[in-house]
Amino acid sequence: MKKILLYASNIKNELINSFIINKLDERTKKNILNIEDKDLRNGYKFYKNVLSKDDLTYLNEYFTHKNFFSHETIKLFDMVEKNFFGQIQSYLGKNSKLYSISFDEIEPNKNNISDISGSWHNDNLGNNLKIYICLEGYGDCPTVLMPNKNTNNYYPNIFFNLRSLGKINKKLKKGQIELKLNTFDCAIFDTIVPHRGKYDEIKKKRKCIILNFLNVEKIEKLGFLENPKFLFFKNSKPPFRKKLPKNFIKKNNDIIAQMKKFEFFDERFLIEDKENISYLWS
Ligand SMILES: [Fe+2]
Repeated sequence: MKKILLYASNIKNELINSFIINKLDERTKKNILNIEDKDLRNGYKFYKNVLSKDDLTYLNEYFTHKNFFSHETIKLFDMVEKNFFGQIQSYLGKNSKLYSISFDEIEPNKNNISDISGSWHNDNLGNNLKIYICLEGYGDCPTVLMPNKNTNNYYPNIFFNLRSLGKINKKLKKGQIELKLNTFDCAIFDTIVPHRGKYDEIKKKRKCIILNFLNVEKIEKLGFLENPKFLFFKNSKPPFRKKLPKNFIKKNNDIIAQMKKFEFFDERFLIEDKENISYLWS
């Protein structure tokens, strides 16, 4: 019963968000139509063998310590700026910001393989770009997606949401494509399109760092500055509400000063007291 109430409340919140999201995404859809690269115009881009050996060394260090305020993050920012940020801006607009970084390690025969992300879904944020940076992979654990759905409007999907109630949908879709990540590869895709992780045939592990980007106005209007509402209905759990960070760590002013030079870094997302600091959602 509790799960069903939560399901209903999520749909209500997503519906309220969808009015804001679709309004803001109007500009993004126009950008998308002007993108020259055919794959990116269809909502994804695969970068084969784009990482260097040196990239792999510092990225593996970062994966181990997971400290956002570190020299490894600055190197990662440099690499992202050089290789991807131009494309991200051409898609989401000049005001694209990095809002979270996550670490993903999937191993065969372990119960860390999530059925939830293995089921078809979208990320309920409208146009939202993820970069997958593959530190280790053998092509047997692809992200599967439907190209060319990125210019559709976003609406909460009652069928996709059933995954929270245990109804997992892994059915093959006509026209689906697979991003088969190997070590040294990267991929960008727009999480507005239906996608899922295909973990069924994994034989060896896959290790990725995942970066998320949105147009900053969307972050502001989905909880960071304003609480989403429609008429007198309020969103009870906005995606970008301010909450106390899990990873409060000692400040390093030198690193913060270097981070501020990157266009995709937003210093308003820093939460700090006298000694400690965190970047929201990271
Ligand atoms: Fe997803």
